[in-house]
Amino acid sequence: MAAPAVAKPVVAPGRVPGLGHLPRLVRDPFGFFVSLADVGDVVTVLIGRKPVHLITTPRLVRSVLLAGGDVFRRGRVFEKATKTFGGGVIVAEGDAHRRQRRLMQPAFGRHRIASYVPEMREAVVRGIAKWHPGEVLDVPRVTHEMAVDALVHTLFKAELADGAAERIMAAFPGIVSGIMAHTLYPADWLERVPIGVNRRYQKSSDEVRQVVDDVIARSAGTDSDGASLLDVLIKAHDEGAGFDRDLLRDEVVTLLIAGSETVATTLAWTLHEIAGHPAVERLLVHELTTELGDTPVRHSDFARLPVLDRVIKETLRLHTPNWLLTRRATEPTTLGGYRVPAGAEVGFSLTALHRDPKVFDVPLAFDPDRWLDENLAGYAVDAMMPFGVGRHRCPGDTFAWAELGVAIATILRKWRLVHQPGAKVRELPLVTVQPSGLRLVARRRAA
Ligand code: HEM
Repeated sequence: MAAPAVAKPVVAPGRVPGLGHLPRLVRDPFGFFVSLADVGDVVTVLIGRKPVHLITTPRLVRSVLLAGGDVFRRGRVFEKATKTFGGGVIVAEGDAHRRQRRLMQPAFGRHRIASYVPEMREAVVRGIAKWHPGEVLDVPRVTHEMAVDALVHTLFKAELADGAAERIMAAFPGIVSGIMAHTLYPADWLERVPIGVNRRYQKSSDEVRQVVDDVIARSAGTDSDGASLLDVLIKAHDEGAGFDRDLLRDEVVTLLIAGSETVATTLAWTLHEIAGHPAVERLLVHELTTELGDTPVRHSDFARLPVLDRVIKETLRLHTPNWLLTRRATEPTTLGGYRVPAGAEVGFSLTALHRDPKVFDVPLAFDPDRWLDENLAGYAVDAMMPFGVGRHRCPGDTFAWAELGVAIATILRKWRLVHQPGAKVRELPLVTVQPSGLRLVARRRAA
């Protein structure tokens, strides 16, 4: 019998008085989230005393993300990110959001992405030029530098990019730990306590916004060749009116943060998995050398690199960066047959959905071949949504895919990265899931 629409979702087991499920969330968020799929389709988790209704099935997540009208808005994680993003598209709602998406669209067209590839490649080449044979690479740092460098050089013209990447890199940790801390605080007044994490969050957000303000101010005095992403945004016009100066800054900050952290962690996890799966590595390197030889990879090459495509896809499944996303109900509604009130906080973990054994066989195994056509039968392929779905779906998906492809194709033909014996890699859930402790030894690949 279907659940009556008046019933409340069941509360997850293991809560602690006053703290709710925070201890379990902090200790092992993915294990906890994945376990909730056995408890119910919608399970209430308590952050302190605040209930968050976590959805555990792909079907229900899709139905929330695709819900018409204004029933669900952005919710807690995004509300806590406005210090950095201001009114950028990632936190905007309703008509403003629709307009901002429209204005941004041209910057992510297919031809535009292809035109960014040389800058993406140069950023990777600059990165690997610093490596020495035998060097132990701090992989999350290295991939983060590459991702910020690539984004800064596609966003801004070279002369404007100088110095910006370093300042943005330095501000990153303060922003990601601040957003996560503010999301998980059991009471809002904790945000105003003058402790390190709060102070760093404010200071780092101010710094990134200042860097972008400086670049935009300087770009006004340079000739535009129309090629950078910033040029496209500046030229964007919608019914006669484009972005005003403040919104332009907020959009650029949004792209810098949303577009580098996600790509950097995915690239780091990809290198980790390739190093741990020699058979996959052999196949991939064979494909890259056979198809590309020594030539620099171009956007048009990707169609001939199916192994690369499957490796990226499998990494995005197993190591989906966005482990916790939220929405908030704007009116009383039902969620999987349960009634939730206006203001109810709804959450979902794309990482946990992609690790559900009811959806993916042996979900913790890294197996790019699960994406071969002949192996897809019986899979709920639409359960795979690393870039989200609906009106907030990632506008940077093809940008990300190109950047990951360029980085892997460029790195792997020159370098073999190997694990250090006994080294432990831990999943650290900040805004994205970081591979904490990931160090790889760089060895030159024999020709
Ligand atoms: C592996 C890389 C990436 C992943 C996995 C990823 C994932 C996501 C997801 C899941 C969302 C939707 C969040 C939600 O519905 O609540 C999103 C939104 C967004 N992403 Fe990405 N992203 C990636 C790379 C990028 C890049 C490279 C850019 C830009 C250069 C970008 C810009 C954005 C923006 C602006 C939004 C907000 C869209 C909106 O709210 O309308 N992302 N991303």
